[in-house]
Amino acid sequence: MTSPRTTLSLVDTDPAELAVDAIVIGVHSQTTEQESGSPAGALLLASGAESIAAAFDGKLTETLALLGATGGPGEVIKLATLGTVTAPVVAAVGLGPEPSGAAPAPETLRRAAGAAVRALAGAARVALALPLPDDADAPAALRAVTEGALLGGYRFAGYKTKPQPARRTPVAEVLVAVPDAADATAQAEVTRAQAVAGAVRTSRDWVNTAPNELRPPSFADAVATAAREAGLGVEVLDEAALAAGGYGGILAVGQGSEAPPRLVKLTYTPEGGGNGKRVALVGKGITFDTGGISIKPAQGMWEMKSDMAGAAAVGAAMLAVAALKPSVAVTGYLPMAENMPSGTSYRPGDVITMYSGKRVEVLNTDAEGRMILADAIARACEDGADYLFETSTLTGGQVIALGKKIAGVMGTPELCERVRAAGDATGEPAWPMPLPDDVRKGMDSDVADISQVNAGMDRAGHMLQGGVFLREFVTDEVAWAHIDIAGPGYHSGEATGYWTKGGTGVPVRTLLHLVDDVAANG
Ligand code: BES
Ligand code: MN
Ligand code: ZN
Repeated sequence: MTSPRTTLSLVDTDPAELAVDAIVIGVHSQTTEQESGSPAGALLLASGAESIAAAFDGKLTETLALLGATGGPGEVIKLATLGTVTAPVVAAVGLGPEPSGAAPAPETLRRAAGAAVRALAGAARVALALPLPDDADAPAALRAVTEGALLGGYRFAGYKTKPQPARRTPVAEVLVAVPDAADATAQAEVTRAQAVAGAVRTSRDWVNTAPNELRPPSFADAVATAAREAGLGVEVLDEAALAAGGYGGILAVGQGSEAPPRLVKLTYTPEGGGNGKRVALVGKGITFDTGGISIKPAQGMWEMKSDMAGAAAVGAAMLAVAALKPSVAVTGYLPMAENMPSGTSYRPGDVITMYSGKRVEVLNTDAEGRMILADAIARACEDGADYLFETSTLTGGQVIALGKKIAGVMGTPELCERVRAAGDATGEPAWPMPLPDDVRKGMDSDVADISQVNAGMDRAGHMLQGGVFLREFVTDEVAWAHIDIAGPGYHSGEATGYWTKGGTGVPVRTLLHLVDDVAANG
């Protein structure tokens, strides 16, 4: 199931003369008279809007204020231009208070571009004349605007059998006004944004696909097909290959479903070997999580179709890697299983011999993510990795601790810091969390090497138990980070900024930023 894509290009002609269906400008709010020197509550046009303002004879802010514009973040006010400029509509998007001196923060621009493009659904061609700095911050600002615009244009195709007249078609074409459209750095950002936003959209599509349509075999097929087309190396381990290889964790979780488990491995080999470093990306691919024998309550269970968001992010990020060709080797590992209750399910009390050879005592079949991830992590370490980034909708505890927007990061401290910085740069916030010894102590098993959760099912340090468990399967020489996206992987609220309802595509952009970081800095 794929959704139509938005195209994007740069222009450097006068925005007032662009033949588009709508032109987007930025407006800042001014909170107090003291701060701004002008009347409290007044709007301030952002740079980029100069020629539009001139065409309105100085009456643009006044008119926008009359229509209720406040300049608040996410606000979009549309105005018929009645011949003043070429475009028939001006859309003013709120950027919040004017930043002192500098241009707006990249994430402010990313959200504003997303909100504007979403609000203009129904228009075919839209131009953005947003404030872009012309200094060293220019690439980051342009990256933000282009990503935000392309992601705000995302819509899941869905399954409706009748056309929906009230549903406006997403914007097909976006033009971004820049000082110099031929500038090589700016053009490179457009190329990158197309690949990156394409990956985020693919990841959202996979997450939004109904779980009866995306079970491990069909998910593996979809990823493998896209990856082959992109030129990646592809290896798919089916249930027989998993059994032959001794992938006990993946098999245990998958054995309750008639749709058998898979492990998909995707390989990108840089020309000339790149910088010699090897990055492994691992993502949790539970295509549906009922909890298994330790079944979940019915309320909200439908959201567990998103329990493959980690695998979707890794698979989609690998597609972008294939397109962007960084100078570092990157391998993706996507363990996939459906966690179902049945006569063949694994059960609490089972002891599972994992791929690494360690034995795990199962206490709760709903802690299935760590079982499949442990095998994929062990395989990635065996294959040889310098850096291992693993991402998963792993614990409800992540949502309790950090909320729906901020991912939890555990692992090698230096790498956790790089993940935090990457999240900060991409607008996908992530926060480092500890791996305490007493949490590990609580997971001692009477019979096996480790329990899968706290031996008394104590939920204290719930998110940390996941990280502590996974650490057992990382070999010593590998720097690793576990990114728990239980909250940020899926957005059940209304669309906001460049986030649409459903799959968010988090942490695709973080992973791609990290790949670039390792390619540049080792
Ligand atoms: N997939 C869930 C975690 C989850 C919860 C993701 C909410 C997204 C939103 C995971 O497999 C799970 O069930 N975790 C349990 C672990 C427990 C049984 C140790 C949880 O969080 O309660
Ligand atoms: Mn679960
Ligand atoms: Zn799960």
